[in-house]
Formats: sequence, structure tokens, C-alpha cells
Amino acid sequence: MGTKLSVNINKIATLRNSRGGNTPDVLQVAMDCERFGAQGITVHPRPDERHIRYKDVRELKPLLTTEFNIEGNPREKKFLDLVLEVKPAQVTLVPDVIGQVTSDHGWDTITHGSYLKDTISLFNDAGIRTSIFVDADIKMIEGAKETGTNRIELYTEDYARQYPADREKAVKPYSIASKRALELGLGINAGHDLSLENLSYFVQHTVGLLEVSIGHALISDALYFGLENTIQLYLRSLKKVK
Ligand code: PXP
Repeated sequence: MGTKLSVNINKIATLRNSRGGNTPDVLQVAMDCERFGAQGITVHPRPDERHIRYKDVRELKPLLTTEFNIEGNPREKKFLDLVLEVKPAQVTLVPDVIGQVTSDHGWDTITHGSYLKDTISLFNDAGIRTSIFVDADIKMIEGAKETGTNRIELYTEDYARQYPADREKAVKPYSIASKRALELGLGINAGHDLSLENLSYFVQHTVGLLEVSIGHALISDALYFGLENTIQLYLRSLKKVK
């Protein structure tokens, strides 16, 4: 089984919201992403609903045929209730604060260990797979194991930032982190700033990568290549042996 591509469609909602109407149609785009080969759809509803709205999330659920992944901070009751109501295949817990432009750090799984444990069991009891967003830091990954989460999502912004200067150095902490997570029996996802430039190298130099969620670069590439071609290009980059 290779690595699945989950397309984060928040940027589509941002574009729609900029004009107030329903263009582009977020639900249609999500279904088209699936038709073009994406194996999952990711949304990240934030409390101010400046990207994906809570209503979008409710409407997407019955339409999707691939894995639905909802990301967000479970400390917001509105988010917690939404996920428990919609019951996606996976919830990715992110320690965002209100108004944050985009996620910029993983969980401190030791300081917040008991909170995460309780929240994860709530989702697991509802039949929802959990993933928690963590830096490529062995201590945080070992802490994640203690929370009972099914998976971790490795926060790849550091990798992406360092990639142009020294890709070997950039990927090293992720190679080590993915090996440790696999040993611990955790499922491994990854995301943030992955792109056509850096994705393939990441996949080749990590182990056990089950899923990547990609938004910003993929939607930007679609302006040039079109959505269908772009999804195909990302799927090709995910193949382990080229
Ligand atoms: N994973 C998480 C937890 C995120 O918050 C985001 C951005 O919303 C992504 C993945 C996708 O990042 P990008 O838009 O840079 O591909």
C-alpha cells in the first residue's frame, strides 16, 4: 500500500468566500478531486470560518466517497461537537490558537498528554480514527504513543523550508522520526508546505508514510496545470520507486 493523497480544500473555500457567492463550488471541487484520483479530502474549519465553513463540512460528508479528514483544535467546543456529529474517517488534532494564519507547531504531547488521551478516547469511542500533529521530535512521538492516538501527522514545514539549501539535512529528522513512530506502532501522516518540488524526496527518505495532506502548493499548481493534471503529478510523486 502506497502513500495516500488527501487534498486540503481550504484554499478553494477562501477563494469562494472572497466574493460571497458559490464560485468556486467547494462541494463540486471536492468531488472532482476524488474523481481525478485523490484518495482523501481534508478540511480545516476554524472558529471564524474564514476558510471552510461548518456548513460545508456537514454537506461534504454524505457526498464524499474517499477518506474524509477534519483538522482542528479540539479545545474549541464547536469543533469537537462538529467532528462528533459528522463522524469523518479521521480527525487530525492541531494545537492552533484562534486567528492563527496557518498551523505553525505540533503538540507538546508530554505537557498536554492527559488532555490528549481523554480527547482521543472520546473520538475513538465514536469510531473516528485520530491523528495528532507533531514535530519530528522523538520525545513528542513517544509522548504521542502514550496518548493512545492511532496516528501522528509529522509537521513538515521545517523540512520544506530547509529543502532548497540542503535536502539531506532537511529530511534527516523525519527519517529518524518515522522509523521511531513505525517501531512504536503508530500510523504516520505528514503535511504542511509539501509541494511538487519536495514531496518525492520526502517519500523516498521516510518509512511507513500512510497519507499526506496538501493544500496550498497543490491548489497553486492547479492554476498552471489544471486540477486533474496536478493531482496526477502529486500521485506520481508519491510513488516510492520511480
Ligand atoms: N496539515 C495541517 C495540520 C495543516 O494545518 C495544514 C494547513 O491547513 C496542512 C496539513 C496543509 O498544509 P499546506 O496547505 O501547506 O499544504
